[in-house]
Amino acid sequence: MCGIVGILGSHEVAPILVEALKRLEYRGYDSAGIATINDKVLDRRRAVGKLVNLSDLLVHEPLAGKSGIGHTRWATHGAPTTSNAHPHMAGTVSVVHNGIIENFKELREELASHGMSFETETDTETVALLCQHYKNEGHASAEAARKTVERLDGAFALAFLFDGEEDLMIAARKGSPLAIGHGEGEMYVGSDAFALAPLTDQITYLEEGDFAILTRTSLQIWDSNGNQINREKRQIQLDATRVDKDGHKHFMAKEIAEQPVAIDRTLHAYLSETDDITLPDELDFTKIDRVTMVACGTGHYACLVGKYWFEQIAKMPVEVDVASEFRYREPPVSDRTLALFASQSGETADTLAALRYMSGKADQIVGLVNVSESSIARESDVILPLYAGPEISVASTKAFTCQLTILLIMALKAAQQRGIPLPEGMPSDLRAIPGLIHQSLMLEEQITASSRGLATARDIIFLGRGQLYPLALEGALKLKELSYIHAEGYASGELKHGPIALIEDTVPVIVLAPRDALFEKTISNMQEVMARGGRVVLITDAEGARIAGEGTSEVITMPQVPNALAPILYAIPAQLVAYHTAIAKGTDVDQPRNLAKSVTVE
Ligand code: F6R
Repeated sequence: MCGIVGILGSHEVAPILVEALKRLEYRGYDSAGIATINDKVLDRRRAVGKLVNLSDLLVHEPLAGKSGIGHTRWATHGAPTTSNAHPHMAGTVSVVHNGIIENFKELREELASHGMSFETETDTETVALLCQHYKNEGHASAEAARKTVERLDGAFALAFLFDGEEDLMIAARKGSPLAIGHGEGEMYVGSDAFALAPLTDQITYLEEGDFAILTRTSLQIWDSNGNQINREKRQIQLDATRVDKDGHKHFMAKEIAEQPVAIDRTLHAYLSETDDITLPDELDFTKIDRVTMVACGTGHYACLVGKYWFEQIAKMPVEVDVASEFRYREPPVSDRTLALFASQSGETADTLAALRYMSGKADQIVGLVNVSESSIARESDVILPLYAGPEISVASTKAFTCQLTILLIMALKAAQQRGIPLPEGMPSDLRAIPGLIHQSLMLEEQITASSRGLATARDIIFLGRGQLYPLALEGALKLKELSYIHAEGYASGELKHGPIALIEDTVPVIVLAPRDALFEKTISNMQEVMARGGRVVLITDAEGARIAGEGTSEVITMPQVPNALAPILYAIPAQLVAYHTAIAKGTDVDQPRNLAKSVTVE
């Protein structure tokens, strides 16, 4: 989603702004721009498409100046055109914005009644105009910005720069994250600390409702009640190599390959050398009767798997919902409820809003996040970091398998605390996951070849049962977001209640069938597909292939896995199928069209 940078620097800022924007590219965007002040005059350059277009423009039309703001835009109001790209300017005000201003239409009408005119349909231009309106009334720039921010409804992170004021920047946060970086006689603003990594590791995070005035040597912050406040300056461990693909063609390929190491890190954090589960002491499942899990997209599918584990292993009732639906249902919350929010970024607006809905209602709020400094982490009672390492590719891979690993560990812990015997081999079998993933990654060559066949399909169906049903959903999500091929995941038992009408020889059906208690039933559903001419790719283990492989178009043979681990392992072929089908189709794997990594608007 949109990315913001701002620099009050001591060198020419245009190239540094573009470099910082590159570090925000992973969030997803469709246009970009920067504005600088040179000789007290604001000017800007904006371009549609990738950052290289902005860089090219800056070669022909350079921008000088040591103060500047920059933005990558993921379109919400108004198409991705140059005129809708940020920074927006009105008179002496320039602004970049991440989020949505919900009352911008009313504000537009008000500004129009003051004789102001608009160049774009965007909500952000309204912010610049409103600020200019307050300046026209005689307010100094910082005061005009403060009055503007007070009028805005919705979610936003904003950075303002003003004509003639080379040593002033305003930053404000409500709903969307914003970090302030401290340099030597320089000051920075960024949507996240990573954008600022080459510039500084000294970071102050703005809190909800904060308003900040920056100069090169000072930072003043006011909280949502208007009280001036000191916010901690922290030294952040930044991975400067974050934008390195490490020899892989795409971040996604790197992140898929990293999973054995990532999960090993996760296990190290939550499993002692003697195989004791080392979750935080505050997690006491004897004080909890039910679990509510809320997330979006891939995180939601991880929670759906978690539901199977909690119910089967710990005998605890679990409700799972997508965050965008959850809070609007206004679900009643019974006593002794643990609410868990799974989010790679920790900034997903819907998930954060659902968390806030549950705050004060649930007994405990648990955040399952990859970014420990994120809003969801900071608003949770208990944080369970994923330890997946930075995930850059828009499609989530290693964060998903790390989420699954922790959910399984939680279910095992809940069972232990409630006196329920653990499944045989647990928790020590968890140690096998990295090695088994490593073996599954060896299937890449075969999956590359079969994906070439899938790339010509118009529709693809994924089937799974029980704990593999959410994996069917995840496989379909990954495939459609990366290759733009229409894909659906179904519980295989549901097939004959409608979707079977879709089956014909042009529709590949990918069946996820580890040899668990439901294997025979899944295979019966697969036979129903084949009886109707369906082209089946069966993903199972060697024994499963021997029993059921005949008549399928292809079998992808996985290592044999302990039952509870199957969802984690079967994520690997699902990811590889999506990745290689996208490669075969030639789509933008790391930044698929229309998608954003961190979805900070509802
Ligand atoms: C799909 C994908 C998305 C995210 C979703 C939630 O590959 O990555 O569906 O899972 O946008 O994001 P987080 O986990 O950051 O809350």
